[in-house]
Amino acid sequence: MEKVKVLFVCLGNICRSPLAEAIFKDKVKRKNLDRFIEADSCGTANYHVGDTPDERTVRNALKNGVTINHYGRQLAVDDLDYFDFILAMDNSNHSNIKRLVYADHHHDKIALMRTYDPLGKGKDVPDPYYGTEHDFQEVFEILDRSVEQFILHLEEHHIGKPNR
Ligand code: 4NP
Repeated sequence: MEKVKVLFVCLGNICRSPLAEAIFKDKVKRKNLDRFIEADSCGTANYHVGDTPDERTVRNALKNGVTINHYGRQLAVDDLDYFDFILAMDNSNHSNIKRLVYADHHHDKIALMRTYDPLGKGKDVPDPYYGTEHDFQEVFEILDRSVEQFILHLEEHHIGKPNR
């Protein structure tokens, strides 16, 4: 069975999207759904290609029980073909992805991460880069509940259910 392929996208790929990817993979594993789903993350910018995630994000994630393993990479042409869901962290990332010429045929798979946030549909996941520990924790909580709802959506509509 084809896996559902999910790509999380932010600006630098060192704070929000690697955290979203890590939270997502952690929940997918706990729900025993790994054989149905794969995920990755990237940035619209190239500032942090090859970098490990921001240490404040790594520390905050660990405090919340999530380990991040990722090296920064920039969104590539092939990603638009390959992935089924391309989830942008904020409206700026979202419009930057959508206005790429090669994204023309894929607008239906490009969405905002917080489409799935029951407490703030369509809002931005705020960029914590110049923020405080409080801002990093807020980002964690937004992503934790958005990703949870997104997985419920996948389970309901997109994942094969053998043996049922
Ligand atoms: P991210 O945060 O998009 O959540 O990874 C940022 C990381 C780096 C920069 C901006 C945002 N930067 O300007 O280097």
